[in-house]
Amino acid sequence: KKSKVYNCWLNYENCSVGEYQDFCNYIKVKSTHPIINTAIEELKFGLNKLMKKEPLILNYSPKSSYIFVGTLEDLKNEKLDVQIRNEILKEDGFAVKIIKEGDTDVLAIIGQNEKGVLYGVFYLLMAICSSNSLNEIEIEDGPYNLLRIINHWDNLNGEIERGYAGQSVFFKDNKVVEDLSRVKDYARLLASVGINGVVLNNVNVHKYETELITDKFLPDVSRIADVFRLYGIKIYLSINFAAPVEIGGLPTADPLDERVKKWWKEIVENIYRYIPDFGGFLVKADSEFRPGPFTYGRNHAEGANMLAEALKPHGGLVFWRAFVYNCMVDWRDRTQDRAKAAYENFKPLDGQFMDNVVLQIKYGPMDFQIREPVSPLFGAMEKTNVALELQITQEYTGQQKDLCYLPTMWKEILDFDTYAKGKGSTVAKVVNGSLFGMKYGGIVGVSNIGDSKSWTGHPLAQANLYGFGRLAWNPELSPKEIAEEWTKLTFGHDEQVINTIVSMLMASRDIYEKYTAPLGVGWMVNPGHHYGPNLEGYEYSHWGTYHYADYKGIGVDRTVATGTGYTAQYKEPIASMYENIETCPDELLLFFHHVPYTHKLKSGKTVIQHIYDTHFEGAEEAKGLKEKWLTLRGKIDEEIFEMVLERLEMQIKNAIEWRDVVNTYFYRKTGIRDVHNRKIYE
Ligand code: GCU
Repeated sequence: KKSKVYNCWLNYENCSVGEYQDFCNYIKVKSTHPIINTAIEELKFGLNKLMKKEPLILNYSPKSSYIFVGTLEDLKNEKLDVQIRNEILKEDGFAVKIIKEGDTDVLAIIGQNEKGVLYGVFYLLMAICSSNSLNEIEIEDGPYNLLRIINHWDNLNGEIERGYAGQSVFFKDNKVVEDLSRVKDYARLLASVGINGVVLNNVNVHKYETELITDKFLPDVSRIADVFRLYGIKIYLSINFAAPVEIGGLPTADPLDERVKKWWKEIVENIYRYIPDFGGFLVKADSEFRPGPFTYGRNHAEGANMLAEALKPHGGLVFWRAFVYNCMVDWRDRTQDRAKAAYENFKPLDGQFMDNVVLQIKYGPMDFQIREPVSPLFGAMEKTNVALELQITQEYTGQQKDLCYLPTMWKEILDFDTYAKGKGSTVAKVVNGSLFGMKYGGIVGVSNIGDSKSWTGHPLAQANLYGFGRLAWNPELSPKEIAEEWTKLTFGHDEQVINTIVSMLMASRDIYEKYTAPLGVGWMVNPGHHYGPNLEGYEYSHWGTYHYADYKGIGVDRTVATGTGYTAQYKEPIASMYENIETCPDELLLFFHHVPYTHKLKSGKTVIQHIYDTHFEGAEEAKGLKEKWLTLRGKIDEEIFEMVLERLEMQIKNAIEWRDVVNTYFYRKTGIRDVHNRKIYE
């Protein structure tokens, strides 16, 4: 028996079929499509757990109530009286309805396609487990985003770059793992929240991984594809732009060279021989020492299009990352601003990318900090498919030791108004393609899972994976609703348990922000591994990541008037809002402005007092998380209880360290005392 923590939100425990019972004895299905078979297998498994008895699978109508499972197409041959308007069902969409067949009540799960059927099955099972009543069950639902994708930063040796939950579930010892049963369990989790694509390997493609696209690895890669396919998930690979040179024996990887084009075409054709529904490539080029088109004097559109051309006849996509910046700057050179790089590199290329290229843009202009403005590139690419890249793995947000529920942050990003086509031009609308009428678009998240028992290291970090899928499916959901859904499915229906955990999740991002880098300034972490405070760890480095704290003030002047001019990359009225210190929101003040420590925030506090206050509060609130958790002892699974408790204790230590290092640093810089006279180590 698999443990509770392993089953995540698909436990189907602490709940029963209740008023659904009458429907659950029979399932009628005619299609034998592999994904429909998966849907039936899942439905059988779930109902069996809920009813303690297996439903019967039929291909005809029984005399009593039953569950019908099929696509819209399958429905055409039935005598079911369903009012579904085709247009309501988007690609991958589904409907669940209670309908009549003669005198019999039928609970119909209808998919726009086979994937939709599978999503409908998970919807039903999760609704039953959330005790949603039968008269609220009806739904017609479709995904807001076509592409809902997880990026793995897994290496073939089994290590995961920025992974905090064990080793890869795909790779070990430079091979694909033999036993893929865990991959299947993973596919179930992903499909249950609507994920439809997975990039298997790290964007930094090293020596062995470069060969993933060749006969050496494709037989094994296709075994993984076989597992995911049954759950409606396509696989993609990260590629090395220099592969034609490194493994192809060519003297160049110039994207305009005919030999290079031919080489990639043949590589792609071969991949599709193994994996007919291969998703495509993800490319990190000319970034952080990775090769790219710049080496050959070509631009990123030329690089991306060369690959897109090879993939196009097969229906494949190129995800081309916009994370391109100079990582070798001289900190003395104040004319450089890393935040400006993505826009400067890509805005001039708008309109030049082929229609099967998707520009994958990190949410902020820097790198997944706890607080950054939204990248201005989202409002700027009007003729290019774009996707939003989020980090589910908590590289800069506590590394799955500290609790940090991320949907709160993600929701702010999705709701951010770019004003690209006037008010209401939200990031959500940009990335689903609707704002500019683009064909492809979606949301991508860097995975937070590994082979740890709980998948995510911190059991409560499972909520981030769940929440990512839910928001990619429907950005209109609120982070609180998502937290409630997840908590019920994972921990059951005890009110106290739900309220406690939801309140912990909802407060966690603010708490983490309070005890780490203040007011959007970012980058006060230990270099390399990025956990814990180091206030000048990145101050004199080549990475372009500075806060410029001196004895008088702190922050990066990114204004047009006196700074780097970054604010001009936004549309009005956003540009002016950030440019003007009066209207720049407090939480981003130090991202946009360099101010004296005595500068008064809109909250009425000075910057220095804000720093002290938030750091004392943050550390206290981290302790509060543990106290809250302790009230749940005996009310939830003991193993999960202990695992979380252990993490919360690590978080308290981390928070105290941050508090004291930050407060001491600024006291020493400024000589200004805390007005409340709390303990600062001088
Ligand atoms: C961050 C991260 C790297 C990663 C890079 C990327 O800088 O620290 O490990 O490779 O982002 O997104 O490419």
